[in-house]
Amino acid sequence: MTEWLKTAIFYEIYPQSFRDSNGDGIGDINGMIEKLDYIRDLGCNAIWMNPCYDSPFKDGGYDVRDYRKVAERYGTIEDLRRLFAQVHERGMHILLDLVPGHTSEEHPWFVESCKTERNQYSDRYIWTDCWFQRAEGFPYIAGECDRNGAYILNYFKCQPALNYGFLNPKEHWQKPLDHPACLETRAAMRDVMCYWMEQGCDGFRVDMADSLVKNDDETKSGTCQVWSDIIGQVQEQYPEIALVSEWNNPASAIGKAGFQMDFFLDWFGNGYNLLMRDYDENGRDDSFFKKDSRRSINDFLQEYLPKYDAVKKKGLYCLITGNHDMVRAAYNLEEQELKLAYAFLFTMPGAPFLYYGDEIGMRYQKLPCKEGGYTRTGSRTPMQWDDSVNHGFSEADPSCLYLPTDDRADAPTVAAQKERKDSLYHMVRELFRFRKEHSAFARHDNLEILSAEEGRRSFAYRRDDLVMVCNPSDHVERIDVNVTGMKVVFGIGAARWDQNGCVPEAQSFLIFQTVTEE
Ligand code: GLC
Ligand code: CA
Repeated sequence: MTEWLKTAIFYEIYPQSFRDSNGDGIGDINGMIEKLDYIRDLGCNAIWMNPCYDSPFKDGGYDVRDYRKVAERYGTIEDLRRLFAQVHERGMHILLDLVPGHTSEEHPWFVESCKTERNQYSDRYIWTDCWFQRAEGFPYIAGECDRNGAYILNYFKCQPALNYGFLNPKEHWQKPLDHPACLETRAAMRDVMCYWMEQGCDGFRVDMADSLVKNDDETKSGTCQVWSDIIGQVQEQYPEIALVSEWNNPASAIGKAGFQMDFFLDWFGNGYNLLMRDYDENGRDDSFFKKDSRRSINDFLQEYLPKYDAVKKKGLYCLITGNHDMVRAAYNLEEQELKLAYAFLFTMPGAPFLYYGDEIGMRYQKLPCKEGGYTRTGSRTPMQWDDSVNHGFSEADPSCLYLPTDDRADAPTVAAQKERKDSLYHMVRELFRFRKEHSAFARHDNLEILSAEEGRRSFAYRRDDLVMVCNPSDHVERIDVNVTGMKVVFGIGAARWDQNGCVPEAQSFLIFQTVTEE
C-alpha cells in the first residue's frame, strides 16, 4: 500500500463552499490555498476535493463536460497546479474526484455520440439499436436526438452512462467487456487519470466506482476486471497513486479491483447510518451515539467486521464523519455526542475522513435544491470561519452567495471554537495529534473487540498497546474489560476501574495505554 496512506487523515472539501478568494460569492481554488494552513493545523494531512471540472452543474459538478478543464468559477489550471504544489510543500497530499461512470450530456463525446453518422464516439455510450427499442431494466432516454436509438443513464437524466460493456451481453446492442469500443472507453479514462497525475495530484476518490459494467454479477466481477486493468496501467507510470472508491464493498474494491481504500457508505438503515443517522420524521431517534439510545455497538459491528476482516491486511476500509451526499451529523447530535462519535470514528482502522465544517459541528440547513443537490443541499453550505460578513467565507454581498450561510445567532464558527478550550474543534485537533503519536494507528489489521455486549451501551476495543473504552449513554455503566496496570492517555470524561472491570462515566471516551516498565 502507498506508504503515506497508512497515516493519512483526510479532509473533504466541497470547493464551491470552502473559501471565496475573489468575492464573487463562490468558493474557489485560491480560497483553498489560503486555508491550507488551517487544515494542516487541525491535523489533517490529506485532502479529497469534490469535482472541480468544467460542467453545466446539474449535479454539483458530477456531470463533467470536460475532464481536463478546470471550471472557470473555481479558477485556472495554474491555480490548481499551485494548489498541488502548496499541498505538497506542507507535506500533505490531495485527491481529485474522478467521475468515470458517466459524463454530462454536454460532454463533446456525448454530443458526437448523438449524431446519426457513425463516428469514433458512437459506442462511447450505451445505445440500443432503434428508437423504439427500450433498454429493459435500465433507466434510459429516447427521443432526445436524431440518432436512431435510446441511451442508458448512470444517475440523473443529465448523466449518460459511459460504455464499459456488459458482463453477459444478452441483446445485440450490449457489448462484451473486451469490445474495441469498451476498451477505448477504458483507455480514455486511463488517460484522464494520467493527465491529472501528471499535473501533480496524488490520486482520486472515484465516484460510483462500482457502476462501470452493466448486468454485472453480485461481486461485480466485470467491474473489478475493468478496474484492475485501468489501475494496473496507471500504476505502471504512477506506482504511488492513491485511490479510494465510492463502493462500500471492500472485498471487491480492495480485494479485486485494485483500490487501496473503500468507504463504509451511508445506505439507509445500514450499520454506518445507525451510528449517527437513525432517525425519522416523527422525532424517533435511535442513533447509537444519542445518549438516550438503546442500541449496542453490535448493530454496527455485525456489518462492519466481516467487511473489515476481508481486507484488513490489504487496504483501508474508511469511516467518514459525513460527506456532501448526507445530512450533517450535527443535525441530530449534540456537541458531546459528536465528540464521542468522532473519537470512535478517528480511532478505528482505516484512514478517517472529515467532511469540511464537521470539526465545528456545522449544522444541516433546510434549503431549496441547488444544482441537483435536493436534500443534500443543506449539507453543502459555506464554511463558517468567523463572525465577519458571510462568516468569513466571502466578501460578496450576502444575496450573491452560492448558498446562504447559517445566520442563526449561535451558528458555530472556527474562530469561536478556537476560543473555547472544550470545543469540538479542540477535541478533534487533540485526537488527530494523539493519533499521529501512536504507531498502533498506523497499522490497520490490529482491531480487537474486547467488549460489545448485547443490551449494553458501553464497549471497548484494542489496537496494539491501546485500549479504547466508550460509554455513549447517559448513565454510568460497568463493562467487562481489564485495564489494570494501564494509564489513561486520552480522555473525554473519566472512568474508574479495578480487577472486575471498567466503569466509564456517562458520555465518556477513554484511551488506555499499557504502562511499560523501564
Ligand atoms: C456520487 C456522488 C454524488 C453524485 C453521484 C452521481 O454518489 O457522491 O454527489 O450525485 O455520485 O455522480
Ligand atoms: Ca470565488
